Amino acid sequence: MIILAIETSCDETAVAISRNGREILSSEVLSQADLHAIYGGVVPEIASRNHIQVITKLVDTALEKAGITKNDLDAIAVTYAPGLIGALLVGVNFAKSAAYVLGIPLIPVHHVHGHIAANYIAYPELTPPFLCLVVSGGHSQLVDVRDYTDMSIIGTTRDDAAGECFDKVARVLGLGYPGGKALDDLARDGNDKAYPLPRSVVSDSPLDMSFSGLKTAVLNIIHNAEQKGETLDHPGLAASFAAAVSDTLVPRTMLAAKTLGYDHIAVAGGVAANSRIRRDMERAAKDGGYTLYLPPLHLCGDNAAMIACQAFFEQKAGVLDHLDLNAYATMPI
Ligand code: KG4
Ligand code: ZN
Repeated sequence: MIILAIETSCDETAVAISRNGREILSSEVLSQADLHAIYGGVVPEIASRNHIQVITKLVDTALEKAGITKNDLDAIAVTYAPGLIGALLVGVNFAKSAAYVLGIPLIPVHHVHGHIAANYIAYPELTPPFLCLVVSGGHSQLVDVRDYTDMSIIGTTRDDAAGECFDKVARVLGLGYPGGKALDDLARDGNDKAYPLPRSVVSDSPLDMSFSGLKTAVLNIIHNAEQKGETLDHPGLAASFAAAVSDTLVPRTMLAAKTLGYDHIAVAGGVAANSRIRRDMERAAKDGGYTLYLPPLHLCGDNAAMIACQAFFEQKAGVLDHLDLNAYATMPI
């Protein structure tokens, strides 16, 4: 089954084509990050307008690179939730039109289901059940993946998402937007004990997490140094921050796997690209005797290959939609 998938939930316009789920025939990602950088974050209206401008061309390129024509497609898939509503609507409306014109089924895909599926592409041997830590700009969730389309959240952030926190700290350090990768690079030469930072605990909820205290602590250090005219150790602060985020995520992930009795752990989402988190995850998984799946970097951030892959499993489970499909800014997993 050949599926063309569209992903426009935030500031990446992405189109990909999969064959029978895990095989990716082409994957195009056009980031708008440069357009939003001067505003220090994504401007929803600009995101929607730019998705409209490039989506048709991107679909043509994806078909060409896959070496097929639109008549070879068996279904159209689209991210319909969660995300920026205007941005999602561009993808959903394009997908509905394409499905209608071609007379083929329409498969709605939840963005977080898609992130998890990035691991199916990279690891053909991976099958549910397993535990997945999803860490992105909008999500920090421990997900019990019972089956390809049957999953639930067993731990989540009570405030900011990990990626949101990376972006905020990076912005205040003048690293631009989105700053997760730049902060990660800066941290590589830093002393991770340069600044003592909090590791918050949510009382009575050992699998839940909180990042707002950490974010505030880092911002206070930066502002205090500015006010006193002191020089900040930027790499040290970046490394101390990455260590604090990792210390929040990694032990909870191990505890969640233990609680569920799973020996397979996956990580997904943009923050899964973080070098400190990847290193700590690898060590903890090895120590705990777990098999760890980390997606390659190009499958961590938003892309449509993960949507095209997940769509195969969604339609297999009978998840199909009609031309009245809507987009939703929020949606339970
Ligand atoms: O999954 P994603 O592309 O979009 C959402 O669904 O939100 O995740 C984007 C997030 C941003 O916050 C970005 O700064 C962060 O992932 N990110 C990183 C790294 N690369 C991207 N955070 C930490 N270290 C990285 N290397
Ligand atoms: Zn995402």
